[in-house]
Amino acid sequence: SSAFESLRTAFHFQPERNWINDPNAPLYYNGWYHLFYQYNPSEAIWGLISWGHAVSVDLVHWLYLDLAMEPDQWYDINGVWTGSATFLQDGRIAVLYTGSTNESVQVQNLAFPEDPQDALLRKWVKYSGNPVLTPPTGILSTDFRDPTTAWLGADGLWRLGIGSKVSRNGIAIIYSSSDFVNWTMQDHYLHEAEDTGMWECLDFYPISKNGSSSGLDTSVYGDDVKHVLKSSMDDSKLDFYVIGTYDYENYTFTPDNTEVDLGNGLRYDYGKFYASKTFYDGNKGRRILWGWINESDSMQDDIEKGWACVQALPRQIWFDHLTESNLIQWPIDEVMDLRRSKISMRHTLLEGGSVMEIPRSSGAQWDIELTFENPISNHGHLDHMLDTDEPYFCGAGSAAKQGYYGPFGLLVLASDGLQEQTAVYFYITTLNGKPAAVACNDQSRSTMASDVDKASYGFFVPVLETEKTLSLRVIVDHSIVETFAQGGRVCITSRVYPTLALDENAKLFVFNNGTMPITLQQLDAWQMSKVYMHPYATVQ
Ligand code: FRU
Repeated sequence: SSAFESLRTAFHFQPERNWINDPNAPLYYNGWYHLFYQYNPSEAIWGLISWGHAVSVDLVHWLYLDLAMEPDQWYDINGVWTGSATFLQDGRIAVLYTGSTNESVQVQNLAFPEDPQDALLRKWVKYSGNPVLTPPTGILSTDFRDPTTAWLGADGLWRLGIGSKVSRNGIAIIYSSSDFVNWTMQDHYLHEAEDTGMWECLDFYPISKNGSSSGLDTSVYGDDVKHVLKSSMDDSKLDFYVIGTYDYENYTFTPDNTEVDLGNGLRYDYGKFYASKTFYDGNKGRRILWGWINESDSMQDDIEKGWACVQALPRQIWFDHLTESNLIQWPIDEVMDLRRSKISMRHTLLEGGSVMEIPRSSGAQWDIELTFENPISNHGHLDHMLDTDEPYFCGAGSAAKQGYYGPFGLLVLASDGLQEQTAVYFYITTLNGKPAAVACNDQSRSTMASDVDKASYGFFVPVLETEKTLSLRVIVDHSIVETFAQGGRVCITSRVYPTLALDENAKLFVFNNGTMPITLQQLDAWQMSKVYMHPYATVQ
């Protein structure tokens, strides 16, 4: 169990013990960031869910507060499930959440802070007229959950999205209201996608077309913005998003590229990252994404550990105006405040088949930024070197396979003899007849333990022809590896469970398993400090 201790994260949000899932109602209020979360206070597996609650001044260090809401009413006695916060026009905060009723029907309930003067928002009052929404005709009672943050329509009415399905089609139902209490279902869906199953944890928000990293309040609409619709796919447990246009008079959403819709298109993260939710941070004028990172060990191990699951680092999110096709996600700036001593490498040629330990790289808490020369833009004629027949597959053991350019990248949480290692790398392949870069996290050798899911993940990374480098930012936190490729165009989050590469026994290496040499232009790796995360009561 001391090995289990070493798997606990140092700077990712998690409760002191037991089970956590979806982030709920993230918000900024009177000097404090609030995070609520799906929480089972009694064991390290999902069960009877309450709302956990923590506050922070910087989104990095946290104070745990008492449960914000517990299942104590007929309309949520089987669980206080996922919900979102909305600032009403008079400045009040309203929370809408899903309750699982005494008959396990999914209904939507309202709650308000008891005392708006209390910046910590410690006490919550459930509205006396709950539930405010019950499953409409034609919708199954167990397919109606996770209300979005509401936005104001052009007609001055509130709009709200709720995910569901009709037979195999995922749908976003839309409601309107003038008073936030009485809601009317719109006669059409905000969006629908064939054969995608139940849509959980919908999110819908505007982004600036001009590529500014500033965020927009959820109610902003107009010609300068695009909208993002995100659905968490219940069947696959993957978060898909699609960028498109919101018709703010007819309340419909149309993807920019109808070929790339929810379920077959882009994902926030190609690893473990689910049930995410954004909020507009009025403090710093940015939009921030929270996402839940599940475990990939056994339930039995979770029970023995006494805790399960964490939240991913908060990510700032904006439109990539260079590619015009994807979002950029980047750890919020405050994460850099945790950076301590730094090690660097410059202009290092990695011969084909080489593995090089990075000196003084002991440790399991890292923020690493590295850039490689981009073989696609630097070497014109790659055609004879590309695998043309099949698309590249980031599968188990793929980091060990040999291509021309790639795999090349980093080994993190690596033991001295490399019995354990998690590879984060690029591989140059082809897509639609052109050279293309894939980024991968390969967990297949991450642990000697056997009762662990070691699936590997990755995806094609958009790289402009003018871009001379390929970049990775890799954040390592004991049992978490979060990869941000090419400035945050593609993200990959992994859970890993080393048995040897723990704490000071974990090392960093750079490697190139391709046959062609590759130049590592720059690498900076910072040791990361542990954050403050304690019950509020103990610091009073
Ligand atoms: C997503 C989810 C939500 C639900 C909550 C229950 O992980 O299943 O749809 O509201 O978790 O904990």
